[in-house]
This record gives sequence, C-alpha cells and structure tokens, in this order.
Amino acid sequence: MNHPPDPPQDPLPPPFTHNQPTPTLLTQGAEALLYRTHFLTPSHPCALKYRPSKPYRHPILDKRLTRHRILSEARTLVKCRREGVSVPGVLALDAEGDGASGGWMMMEWIEGRTVREVLIEGAKRRKDDRDEGVGEEWEEGMRLMMGKIGRVVGRMHEVGVCHGDLTTSNMMLRPLDKVQQNGEATNGEHVRRFGEILQGDIVLIDFGLAGQSLQDEDKAVDLYVLERAFGSTHPEAEEGFQEVLRIYGDSYKGAKVVLKRLEEVRMRGRKRSMLG
Ligand SMILES: Nc1ncnc2c1ncn2[C@@H]1O[C@H](COP(=O)(O)OP(=O)(O)OP(=O)(O)O)[C@@H](O)[C@H]1O
Ligand SMILES: [Mg+2]
Repeated sequence: MNHPPDPPQDPLPPPFTHNQPTPTLLTQGAEALLYRTHFLTPSHPCALKYRPSKPYRHPILDKRLTRHRILSEARTLVKCRREGVSVPGVLALDAEGDGASGGWMMMEWIEGRTVREVLIEGAKRRKDDRDEGVGEEWEEGMRLMMGKIGRVVGRMHEVGVCHGDLTTSNMMLRPLDKVQQNGEATNGEHVRRFGEILQGDIVLIDFGLAGQSLQDEDKAVDLYVLERAFGSTHPEAEEGFQEVLRIYGDSYKGAKVVLKRLEEVRMRGRKRSMLG
C-alpha cells in the first residue's frame, strides 16, 4: 500500500486557493508536488505540477531555476505531442509564480498507473495466484508491454528528445477504453483477468530533466537508466527488457547505433561499480 504523502507545507498559489473540490496531493518529490485537480469544469480532471519556491535558495536564482524547469518541461511535452510521442498534453502554466510562491504547470490527466506500480502488483499477484496458464498469460502480457515501451522510447529519440530520468515511475500504463475491451465489465479488480493488468498504452511523463539531443550517447544513457531501473526494482522483468531493446532497435533509423553505444555505456557502468 502506498501511504498518502504528508500535506504540503506550502499552500497552493492562486488561482488554486478557491478550487472546489480542493486539489488532492498525489506525490511530493524533491522539487515538485503533483496534484489531481480539474481544468475549467469539475468533470475534466487534470494533473497539476507545482514547484514551490525554495526558501534556502537565493530568491532571484530560485525564480530563474523554477521558471527554467517549468518552461523546459512544457516545451518538451509540446514538442513530443506534436511529433506523436505519447505524453500528457499541456493545458496551462505559470512559470513566473506569484511573488514567493513558485510556479506550476497543468496537464492532461492520464488514467491508469505507473509501470512500476503495475509490475509490483503483478509480481504480488503471481505469487498469490497459482492458477494454470497464469504464467503464460503474464509472459505474453509482459512481452507486449515491453514492446510498447521500446516503440515509444524509440519515437521519442527519433524526434530528438532525451528523457533524462527514464525509470518505470516515469511511464504510465493507460488502460484501454472499456469499449475497446469488447464492452466487458472491467470495473472491480477481481473481475479483471490476470494478464489484463498489463494491457494499455504507454504514456511517458516527468520531462523535468529532459533535453533536446541528437547524440547517441544521451540516447544510450536513457536506455541504460531504464535497464537499471528494471534490473534493480523488478528483477523478474529484467529478461523481458530484451524485448524493449528489440523493438527499439527496429523503431527508427539510427536506433541500432544507439544499441551499440549502450554496450559501451554498460561497460563504463561496470568499471565504475568495480572501482566502488
Ligand atoms: N499527467 C498525469 N496524470 C496522472 N498522474 C500523473 C501525471 N503526471 C504525474 N502523475 C503521477 O504523479 C507522479 C509524480 O509525477 P512526476 O514524475 O512528474 O513528478 P516528480 O518525479 O516529483 O517530478 P520531478 O522529478 O520533475 O521533480 C507520477 O509518478 C505519477 O504517478
Ligand atoms: Mg517522476
């Protein structure tokens, strides 16, 4: 179970102070707070990324940094969106903030869960559930999901964007529409078949550290970070990572060179860990 984070110390800036219902805090990272709220009408959910000002930083430097992060994340999201990389759409932002309060960016709400959460639940259910055929269903689901990850990362690199923090927490699995699932009842966890938790589209999020890059090295480092994320937190999914690389390698011209480069990045990583 995820425990709800502590309430934030900083109240939200205007115009979010009078929002009814009040925004719900989802996560509190080192730099940003993530809320679920709504855009224009309560029936239109959205995600609000708020970067409060840091009292320990020099006010001018602090404002400049916040502004830079918000604009750079928004620009990258807009570019990805335009180029057909699956990311949340940007709805609104205030990079300047109001006095000492920091800045924010509002984006499309993505239904579903992070890939990390899905893999953790899957591992748990696999342990509890010894039904026949479950293993095959899971493996097939994993293969498909890994392939989708390879494709979306490939498309992002093809358009010249490097993510900078490509982990399983920074990609979401958005379930398919109920209509697409043949109208079968899918509400209620227990109704869903085992492999279904792996179905859906991959949406990349958290472009706070992203940059425009055409360098093979930067792309290879993205893949290396992702490989490490799979290897360290989801060892059972490590094998499946080959499928990410296989589909990635076929996804754009130049991808094979990046895979070659990945081997070098791995070697350097290994040397570094030997030196401690
Ligand atoms: N558009 C969205 N729709 C739904 N949930 C989201 C959305 N964006 C983020 N989330 C959820 O909020 C969590 C934190 O978001 P994000 O990764 O962008 O912030 P962060 O890691 O705190 O940011 P940063 O690393 O830039 O300081 C995500 O892991 C995800 O669960
Ligand atoms: Mg994140």
